[in-house]
Amino acid sequence: MRYFKSVTDIGDLKEAVREAMQVKANRFAYKKLGQDKTLLMIFFNSSLRTRLSTQKAAMNLGMNVIVLDVNQGAWKLETERGVIMDGDKPEHLLEAIPVMGCYCDVIGVRSFARFENKQDDYEEKIFNQFVKYSGRPVFAMETATVHPLQSFADLITIEEYKTVERPRVVLTWAPHPKALPQAVPNSFAQWMNAAGYDFVITHPHGYELSSEFTQGATIEYDQDKALAGADFVYAKNWSAYEDPNYGKVLSTDRSWTITTEKMALTNNARFMHCLPVRRNMIVTDDVIESERSIVIPEAANREISAQVVLKRILESL
Ligand code: CP
Repeated sequence: MRYFKSVTDIGDLKEAVREAMQVKANRFAYKKLGQDKTLLMIFFNSSLRTRLSTQKAAMNLGMNVIVLDVNQGAWKLETERGVIMDGDKPEHLLEAIPVMGCYCDVIGVRSFARFENKQDDYEEKIFNQFVKYSGRPVFAMETATVHPLQSFADLITIEEYKTVERPRVVLTWAPHPKALPQAVPNSFAQWMNAAGYDFVITHPHGYELSSEFTQGATIEYDQDKALAGADFVYAKNWSAYEDPNYGKVLSTDRSWTITTEKMALTNNARFMHCLPVRRNMIVTDDVIESERSIVIPEAANREISAQVVLKRILESL
């Protein structure tokens, strides 16, 4: 595997989950695979889980790891071609990327949607430049439109906790004070559809996601109806995708917060969230602290999803 961004890059999902379980059972079995290989993790945006879990996964595989926070200590980067660089950005991404490629064997990139231009975001302008100019395998640590390491970890977690072959998985929008990207729900929809679950998405009108990702899911605008019989409730906020409201907060309606009463509508569902989560906006203290909440094992599986991806990339070098 040279690149990892879409669910299609990982191939057969059952095989990927089987491999994840093997890695989880013995995460140091491939310690020699990454010997003398260097992972460069590039963050244009903040992170706790992705940073720690991906570094841990790389160390499990025997890799060396370099972490670069582009906005802290590196030169400010110009990303637009044709700009007269007489402002506050002394380096262009088009030199920076191949230079970064000189110092490593594999590159992970985190670059969120900027909400300046929908087309640039959905064409993955930053991530694709790393693919084109780094000369290295590149994997997504959350791009403008997707967060596949999270979705793979979510899939592993659902497979571990499900009690029926084809669970009802409900992705529900929940309120948040700031405009968040669509990357997590886009990816989650893509992976849940590919897994063949009974997959439902619920959100207020105006929060429709791109059909590129949701195709195959049931869309239900009534949250209570969507939650009825759910085996897994995956809460997440996202901003509007459709024009002319792209990247905007249209609602902070707290009646969409996941509460004990909402969870009572479900089939004793497990509660999931990718974290970080704003308590009592997205989900109440009671729900996230309940024994049905699996947000911590879900986060722990980020190490496993990252390790499977890195292992496959190393095997292809
Ligand atoms: N879920 C997730 O990607 O967490 P971080 O933003 O902390 O990496």
